[in-house]
Amino acid sequence: MLGSRAQGGWRALRRCSSLPRVVRLRVREALGAREAADAVRVQGWVRSVRSQKEVLFLHINDGSSLEHLQVVANPSLENRDLTFGSAVEVQGKLVKSPHRKQNMELQAETIRVVGPCDIWSFPLKMKERHPLEYVRQFPHLRCRNNTLGSLLRIRSEATAAIHSFFQDNGYVHIHTPIITSNDCEGAGELFQIGASSEVRESAEKTHFFNVPAFLTVSGQLHLEVMAGAFTHVFTFGPTFRAENSQSRRHLAEFYMVEAELSFTESLQDIMQVMEDLFKTVTSTVLSKCPRDVELFHKYVAPTQKTKDRLEQILKNKFVTISYSEAVEILKQASQTFTFKPEWGCDLQTEHEKYLVKHCGEVPVFVINYPYDLKPFYMRDNEDGPQHTVAAVDLLVPGIGELCGGSLREERLPFLESRLQRLGLTDAYQWYLDLRKFGSVPHGGFGMGFERYLQYILGVDNIKDVIPFPRFSHSCLL
Ligand code: 4AD
Ligand code: MG
Repeated sequence: MLGSRAQGGWRALRRCSSLPRVVRLRVREALGAREAADAVRVQGWVRSVRSQKEVLFLHINDGSSLEHLQVVANPSLENRDLTFGSAVEVQGKLVKSPHRKQNMELQAETIRVVGPCDIWSFPLKMKERHPLEYVRQFPHLRCRNNTLGSLLRIRSEATAAIHSFFQDNGYVHIHTPIITSNDCEGAGELFQIGASSEVRESAEKTHFFNVPAFLTVSGQLHLEVMAGAFTHVFTFGPTFRAENSQSRRHLAEFYMVEAELSFTESLQDIMQVMEDLFKTVTSTVLSKCPRDVELFHKYVAPTQKTKDRLEQILKNKFVTISYSEAVEILKQASQTFTFKPEWGCDLQTEHEKYLVKHCGEVPVFVINYPYDLKPFYMRDNEDGPQHTVAAVDLLVPGIGELCGGSLREERLPFLESRLQRLGLTDAYQWYLDLRKFGSVPHGGFGMGFERYLQYILGVDNIKDVIPFPRFSHSCLL
């Protein structure tokens, strides 16, 4: 049977004979068709051309699947412009393929070259497995490469799965601002913005919005506002940090998924949402894009056994340790670290890597960080003498921190005194208001989307999981 869209096409055809006879199919639909069809049109880009004496073979891809559709044609249909990379429209009969590896193939009656491709200057070559570093040099063309094609389909499915996860669990999606005067206190280095004329006349020190404005580093504080009315909210959008984007896990522009939950007294509840989100989205991606994911696990990260590892991880509960336990583990490690582990100091990447290894190369929650290390909004655990806040980081193998979250300080006196000590009372009057008008225990977290993709696919460099890598020499990007 044909796919549902194609079936719709057939039905419409029977009802109204004046409609064109030809059914237009995407490559994915043509490959998945269960029966032959007489008049089919497929459009796409040529991935290979093989001309034999009696038959011409083409492989066509239109981005709908990793697999190409094989086109079988009479060599008389060959022409000079029909090359690797050219855009074509092929019309003919869809038939069962005699080849074991492919269900259907298209017997071409006409082939029209819609857009020729100069193969000599085209940087992608037929049947070559280009390394990711190579295709990164061609940000405007690399989506025509198999690996990037798979990545972008996975990215799209994962995005939809994240939205479904939250919608299915009763969360309201909020578009938090991208331009904001809020710096989410310490979440990251800021990009300040202004009109281009302001930048030129910076001596005048005018501000487009009258106050300094930044690109958002986190939607958390805006989500907290909304959690005060909608109970469970989430946002999933671009986030900006003026950090060293040369590292293999940092970007200046990335996507962050953030959730905020009201009437939540336990950090465990927040951790459960993080774990459920990770597992649900990963299972969806594995079941919806098996071939695309397989390409990464087989060819991009073949030594990491990523698939087996992921399947194990989806079956087991994530490990939890406290920050204090983490420091003890690090102190007892036989390995020497560049940064000596000490209670009260931030965990460095080398520490995070060791902890994950120590726990069996699985995701590890580290909870209850020192009070003085964390931003003012994290909830005081009121413990001692090692004084902590209800914060959590989720660490994963090969990446380090994937998610960060906490319970928020909902008690007005605690928040007031902390803001006062930091000299932030005036700036955060509105935040204090939230604690005056129906304050409830609440908490939330943020997950870096690119780090998530890096982890599940075993990709070494974060630049290889974004649609457009940034290059200084390119005006477009
Ligand atoms: O840990 P972070 O800084 O948390 C927050 O901003 C909280 N306000 C979120 C919240 O509670 N709603 O950032 C969350 C995650 C990190 O764990 C990391 O995965 C990712 O965002 N991240 C980055 N990813 C790529 N490039 C960067 N420069 C990143 N900085 C953070
Ligand atoms: Mg963090």
